[in-house]
Amino acid sequence: MSKLTLDRILQTQGFGTRKWCRELIADGDVSINGETVTDYRSAFETDGLEFSVFDEAHRYREHLYIVLNKPADYECSRKPSHHPGVLSLLPEQFALRDVQPVGRLDHDTTGMLLMSDDGAFIHAQSSPRRHIPKIYVATTHDPVTPELVAHLLGGVKLHDEPAPLAAISCEMLGTHQLEIVLEQGKYHQVKRMLAAAGNHCSALCRSQIGGLKLDALGLAEGEWCYLNDEQLSLLTAAHP
Ligand code: URA
Repeated sequence: MSKLTLDRILQTQGFGTRKWCRELIADGDVSINGETVTDYRSAFETDGLEFSVFDEAHRYREHLYIVLNKPADYECSRKPSHHPGVLSLLPEQFALRDVQPVGRLDHDTTGMLLMSDDGAFIHAQSSPRRHIPKIYVATTHDPVTPELVAHLLGGVKLHDEPAPLAAISCEMLGTHQLEIVLEQGKYHQVKRMLAAAGNHCSALCRSQIGGLKLDALGLAEGEWCYLNDEQLSLLTAAHP
């Protein structure tokens, strides 16, 4: 349990500088439990605190853990160059809180993108030592064959990798579709593995991380949601 003054609360939640937050409060734009609070020195217990800014309701969150259903033509980079950045799909306060993607998806890859402002979480979740499976659905240019599946499971050599990289599992979903499970997150890994195995990836979607499935979150492309504790713990669970 910790108490913070209202200006500090707003600042930690990404509403701007301390000075700007004090102005918002003094202008009567902030309320707690339906009551406008105009003294920035008023202190509140942050645990479970609900507050409104410009009549929009918010809950205090020490850290943000969210999933975005990433559409194509958005970049994960902090300084996007050719397409808008994924942060543009999120509330403005999130960027001020330094929310970042956990790993990257290519601009044309769609699906599950985990994002957070918790450095320790981002680090742990991205660590190769954790062996967290990531599940992709790849659409291929040429038909998928049992030989292609065997090749991906047996390991393919990529030119800048010292050892062959293998899928943890790989299943044919249709004539031109594969579900492929990887534990690493190398640059363009799925596309490069498919190319090295003699096919070409024409569309790619990440459908699951650990035991958390994108479908279970009910997000349309471009939508995002907060993750609860149960969903967070699924992230590190094995692929069922
Ligand atoms: N593999 C790729 O090739 N691209 C991605 O975006 C993710 C995994």
